[in-house]
Amino acid sequence: MSSGRFSVMHQKMAAHVSTRFLVTKFKDSVCFIQRRNRFKNKWATTRPKFPATDLALHNFDATYSKSLGDVWPSVRIGMLSEQKYGALLNNFASTSDVKADLHSRGCRDFISVACPKDDERIAQDPLQKPELLNQAADEDAGETTAVRVRSNIQCFVFPRGDISRFKPAKPDDSGLLGYYLLDAASILPVLALDTQPGHTVLDLCAGPGGKTLAILQSHAIRFLWANDLSGSRTDRLRRTLQRYLPKEILKDVEITSLDGRKWMHMDHTFDRVLVDVPCTTDRHSLMEDENNIFKRSRTKERQNLPYLQTELLLAGIQATRPGGEVVYSTCSLSPLQNERVVEQAVSIAQQEMDVTMQVQDLESFTRLFSGTFHFAPQPATGALVLPHLCANFGPMYICKLQRIN
Ligand SMILES: C[S@@+](CC[C@H](N)C(=O)[O-])C[C@H]1O[C@@H](n2cnc3c(N)ncnc32)[C@H](O)[C@@H]1O
Repeated sequence: MSSGRFSVMHQKMAAHVSTRFLVTKFKDSVCFIQRRNRFKNKWATTRPKFPATDLALHNFDATYSKSLGDVWPSVRIGMLSEQKYGALLNNFASTSDVKADLHSRGCRDFISVACPKDDERIAQDPLQKPELLNQAADEDAGETTAVRVRSNIQCFVFPRGDISRFKPAKPDDSGLLGYYLLDAASILPVLALDTQPGHTVLDLCAGPGGKTLAILQSHAIRFLWANDLSGSRTDRLRRTLQRYLPKEILKDVEITSLDGRKWMHMDHTFDRVLVDVPCTTDRHSLMEDENNIFKRSRTKERQNLPYLQTELLLAGIQATRPGGEVVYSTCSLSPLQNERVVEQAVSIAQQEMDVTMQVQDLESFTRLFSGTFHFAPQPATGALVLPHLCANFGPMYICKLQRIN
């Protein structure tokens, strides 16, 4: 190739590269730039006019500024900033070195900080009298308002305001990984579930498996059924459990890919049911265009979420034995997907299934963990973790219900 032809080609390539740069940098000048190049069609068809993340932000500004009021600007900054993680310690691996390393980096297990000894791990109003505290710990004491926290789960976090990152987990001598990284607020629904020795547990929407793994860390349960509609998500869950749990624990875990809404056709009932539903995953929707539920093509799916969530919670209620408990959770701030779904499901359960559900008071539970998380001023039902720059976990909504009959 002659040097002249080479330099013409080189100039064309340079123009191509610099144009691309301009397109990226000056989104509003798209038409002008495209007319000079041959990318117009491809661009016009593939590039959405408003990215899904922008649509999510507009939607949240309109709705959450009303539901959260003055708090919304600080929650907004938190959600647009880097999320904070927690390291769920793998109780089945050799973790003494792992714990020593986490301690040396300034991390603390937020659960044992909140509840120093097992017998003190009772989320209780400190102003309450001791005899009431005992009553709250008694399974058969009738109406209880306090939520117990008795768990072997350990989840390490960096101190408030410290945004250091965890190193990737390493395998121990038997090949099991030392910890699992997740939003530490994801542990709260599992702690509220309060699984105890001998319990049977259903995790109705379990993929990709962070909360399933946390439930199993309690060493406490007799049998766990982990289900998720999505086959790829249950595959991921299976792989995760294999990397963290010994084979003898895995034999007590059933994994299925079924539609949770049809659970009422199953015979089984469980002591505890976790219903961690699909939602607008607010933080993801603000930060990632990929798989974003605010894409225009997914508008209907998004609008239908509260119906799907109500159906899943009703299925979870039906799968709970009388006296057993259900925890409903989302990672959204939306009252329509949180309190309204719970209210709707409780009312339908009563009217159409003749099942009475009692919503548990989580005020003492939130007080226990308020050193680690920012909670919204008590919603009418449940508890809501708000993202905050100093403790950038969540959002996470949790509601606990007991099936009375
Ligand atoms: C918020 S995610 C669950 C996260 C999971 N609990 C964890 O901690 O890793 C919601 C899940 O619900 C699943 N899902 C959606 N529709 C469902 C249905 N009808 N039945 C069961 N699972 C469903 C989705 O595939 C998704 O994995």
